[in-house]
Amino acid sequence: MSDRDVRIYEVGPRDGLQNEATPIPTGAKLRFIGLLADAGLREIEATSFVSPKAIPQLADADALMAGLDRRAGIRYPVLVPNERGLERAEAAGADAIAVFTAASEAFTQANINMSIGESIDAFRPVLARARDLGWWTRGYVSTAFGCPYQGEVGEAAVVGVAQELIGLGIDELSIGDTIGVGGPADVRRVVGALTASGIGVERLAMHFHDTRGTALANVSSALELGVRCFDASTGGTGGCPYAPGAAGNLATEDLVYLLDREGLTHGVDLDALLVAARHVAGTLGRPLSTKVGQAGGWRVP
Ligand code: COA
Ligand code: ZN
Repeated sequence: MSDRDVRIYEVGPRDGLQNEATPIPTGAKLRFIGLLADAGLREIEATSFVSPKAIPQLADADALMAGLDRRAGIRYPVLVPNERGLERAEAAGADAIAVFTAASEAFTQANINMSIGESIDAFRPVLARARDLGWWTRGYVSTAFGCPYQGEVGEAAVVGVAQELIGLGIDELSIGDTIGVGGPADVRRVVGALTASGIGVERLAMHFHDTRGTALANVSSALELGVRCFDASTGGTGGCPYAPGAAGNLATEDLVYLLDREGLTHGVDLDALLVAARHVAGTLGRPLSTKVGQAGGWRVP
């Protein structure tokens, strides 16, 4: 990868839909994933193998994976919280997983009913098995910029859990602003602390929610620090039932527009992406509310 290449890691089918009240048919999710692939996305987080009681919206994970039209060159990671989730992912033919914990104890407890230390212990056998299978692995560090229960989160807490995940052999870390409270100075503080602790910037992805409109400013800041992977959700959906106050993820279409203006390459076609964005908005029965979703790309008259 050249320094001009950026990876866009699409989380719409998972983070985007997990908190929606409207039931979404598996077929509509599969169509969404197909449209995302058509638009050029090469990493599409498909679903979660978590407790169906915790996330009812993704209770169709097994059926979704069975119906997935897997295309060559595309990675379809799935979320896995424990060994049970890994077994389900394996049976479903997954080859890339994401485990997830957080930088604050209160959120981790609410989200996965474990302490941070317990989550690391739970992931150890999961990641060992994934490594034996030759799978790609990612670890989410949620609430890295603020916790809905505890408030401010210090960068030392982020570095602590990030180092634990690196110690388990994780390929990539996704550092999350789960409730969308951080700004560019926080990005410099957190990414600076992670790299100062010896974690290479190429191991980092940033996961911003646009709750307070800071997501693109944060991307810009992270780009300057050398980060080249960003999570985003087409249509700007997203949130977590265990993160009160979280609004949508950074919209993939807004990210693509910014990257295009920066002259960075990412392989995604904006017009095709907007087809996927309209599909998801239509499925949810509401207008597309993202900036670029409304304005479209810029066409010089
Ligand atoms: N897949 C399916 N079911 C699972 C499961 C998995 N990976 N892991 C546990 N379960 C089931 C158990 O069988 C049990 O079912 P039962 O009540 O019918 O007997 C139930 O879930 C509780 O299992 P337990 O092992 O006691 O876990 P828990 O209640 O402590 O919950 C998690 C822990 C991690 C399973 C649960 O909190 C969870 O799935 N969280 C995911 C949250 C999430 O995805 N958040 C959004 C992403 S940031
Ligand atoms: Zn998120």
